[in-house]
Formats: sequence, structure tokens, C-alpha cells
Amino acid sequence: MEFDLAGEHRRLAYKLLAGLVTPRPIAWVSTVDRQGRVNAAPFSFFNVLGTDPPIVGFAPGDREPGIPKDTARNIRLTGEFVVNLVDESLAEAMNQTAAELPAGESELAFAGLTAAPSRTVAAPRIAEAPVALECTEWSTLEIGRNRLVIGVVHHIWAREGVIDPVSFLVNSDAFRPIGRMQVPSGYCRTRDRFEMERPD
Ligand SMILES: Cc1cc2nc3c(=O)[nH]c(=O)nc-3n(C[C@H](O)[C@H](O)[C@H](O)COP(=O)(O)O)c2cc1C
Repeated sequence: MEFDLAGEHRRLAYKLLAGLVTPRPIAWVSTVDRQGRVNAAPFSFFNVLGTDPPIVGFAPGDREPGIPKDTARNIRLTGEFVVNLVDESLAEAMNQTAAELPAGESELAFAGLTAAPSRTVAAPRIAEAPVALECTEWSTLEIGRNRLVIGVVHHIWAREGVIDPVSFLVNSDAFRPIGRMQVPSGYCRTRDRFEMERPD
């Protein structure tokens, strides 16, 4: 099959691309507004983009043309955010925070989660998350109804056990991230792993 996303299949772009480009990691982004009220929401249009400097990117679509989601609005106001990563035990809670609550009402409280202070940014991290990346906004590109938020990672929190303290490698038994799969509600676990040496 072939699809013309610039033409007749334009409306299928989300279904096709979000269903095919899988699995995707999930950025569970916590921010604050000008009054310090906490907001949290998941975004699977997300990845680490480089390490020198360490950068991540995620893409909140606008609610309506020109009207950003609360996460993007808060980042525009404060220039800061935290990317929390999601493991199996947090899947349900993460999903609950995708609910559309009135601006200023905390999704964390709604999902029974705890906001813990960050080290370098005003936005809190999610205490229950196995990993949290404290970020400042480098730039936000506006491309049609997409905003691509690019952030520099300043500080990493990892739950005890996730990183080996000698090798600094991730202990895959202690870190079980989930991934976003097929539209509309598919996810994957990441238990079935294998290793492969790179060619010289
Ligand atoms: C697993 C998952 C992934 C999501 N990924 C995105 C995404 O990449 N971009 C986006 O705009 N919305 C995404 N959403 C929907 C947002 O989380 C949702 O619109 C949320 O209400 C936005 O919250 P905010 O207004 O507090 O920023 C996703 C939802 C879920 C459950």
C-alpha cells in the first residue's frame, strides 16, 4: 500500500505514523505555571536527540491552531520542565494524567502521585517515576499545529538500583520502561530483550 500524506491521505497521518513508528518512549512532562501550580502530561512524540549538550525533544500538538496545550504554555512561560520516564507500575497513573483537567488543576493529585522538588528547575519531578530529567527549554519550533520543544538536560534522577554505580550502565532488571504502540491504545513492555555486538 502507498499513502499520499501531502494529498488525499493527509487525514490519515496521525493514525499511520503514530501506529507505525513504534515503539516510542513516553515523556511524562511536569511543569509549573506562573503561580507555581503543577501540571503533568504524557507525550510519546519524544526522544533523546543528542548528548553534547544533552538534549531531548517532545512535541505537544496545539489544542486548536495557535492555542497550546498547558505543558507547552507553561514551558513558554517558565522555560523549564521535567521529563519523567514511565515504567510498568506507573502505566495506569500516566494514562490518567492525559485527562483534560481545567488549567491550574494538578493532574498529579488527580492520579494520586507525589510532586517532589527538583534540583535545578522550579518544576517538580514525579516522585514515583524511576527516572527524571530536569530540563531547560533550548527552543520551541512551531510547525503548523505541532510544537517541537527542545530541552537541555541539566540533571538526572534515577531510582536506587536503576544505574549500576560502578559501570554507570542501566540495570535492565530494575528499569522496565513501557512504550507506545498501535493507535489508539496500544503499549508494550520491554522485557523481551536481546544483545548484539556492533561490527568493528
Ligand atoms: C501515552 C500518551 C502519549 C501521548 N502523546 C502525545 C504527544 O506526543 N503529543 C500530544 O500533543 N499529545 C499527546 N498525548 C495527549 C496529551 O497527554 C493530552 O492532550 C494532555 O491532556 C495534554 O495535557 P496538558 O494540556 O496538561 O499539556 C498523549 C497521551 C498519552 C496517554
